[in-house]
Amino acid sequence: MYIMEAIRHRRSVRTFDGTPLRPEDIEKVAEYAQNVDNPYELPIEWKILDAKRDSLSSPVIVGTDTWIAGKLKRAPHAEEAFGYAFEKVVLFAEMMDLGTTWIAGTMDRAAFERAMELAEDEVMPCVSPLGYPARKMSLRETLMRKGVKADSRFEFEKLFFDGSFDKPLAPEGAGELKPVLEAVRLAPSAVNKQPWRIVIEGGKAHFYEKKSKGFADPKGWDLQKVDIGIALAHFEIGAEAAGIRMSLKVDDPGIKTDDLHYIASYVRE
Ligand SMILES: Cc1cc2nc3c(=O)[nH]c(=O)nc-3n(C[C@H](O)[C@H](O)[C@H](O)COP(=O)(O)O)c2cc1C
Repeated sequence: MYIMEAIRHRRSVRTFDGTPLRPEDIEKVAEYAQNVDNPYELPIEWKILDAKRDSLSSPVIVGTDTWIAGKLKRAPHAEEAFGYAFEKVVLFAEMMDLGTTWIAGTMDRAAFERAMELAEDEVMPCVSPLGYPARKMSLRETLMRKGVKADSRFEFEKLFFDGSFDKPLAPEGAGELKPVLEAVRLAPSAVNKQPWRIVIEGGKAHFYEKKSKGFADPKGWDLQKVDIGIALAHFEIGAEAAGIRMSLKVDDPGIKTDDLHYIASYVRE
């Protein structure tokens, strides 16, 4: 499977068929994860975990015992770096026809953090099951998808803007960036909030976060910035597929906004 197809085809898989993951499949995902990059160059440590061996559980996942998790030091941009890298692992798994689900909340977090040997200055933002998807979703999975409208995404014009936030960008006006922005639109996010907003200005794509209540913890960790990291990965993959070379810079252009927070910009090379 080609990576843009993986972006279009991926969905969260919470019901697996019960077949243990083949050792060669575990090996492939582990090897990919060890080598995955992120634009902030923050080191991330990955582990493949086993629910039985490590006493792990999640009330939303059935039919697989294999998990992948990553941890990194708390640092500026750790959220975006993790979101970017973990999504690349998710898409790699998708290309192998494996199912995944980003999970930040609905798991026994203490058990996962123990299995990851998490140090005081580290954070384990999310985990994912790895397995072969079942033919039919569990009733709980079907209901969860309905609850967050998991099959729908905001319209293009609500997410993307032309030069300033008072000028929504229609797909027809996006030119060669249309498939790139479409790839961002399809990205997964916590509770499907899709907190990314992008202003296109000259050869630049400025990423902003629209914060919802309840996603940041007292230590300042903001789960929605992990979502933005996912959007950055989808943008970069989409741009590469369209033959557009861009690199990430953190350089606030000072575009006027009342409620959005600047994160970073992709700039044409
Ligand atoms: C950062 C992040 C955290 C998430 N946490 C959970 C979670 O704790 N439990 C869960 O069932 N799904 C979780 N999800 C999955 C989202 O609900 C899902 O991606 C979204 O509803 C869109 O559905 P899709 O992935 O099938 O496209 C999370 C997704 C992201 C990106």
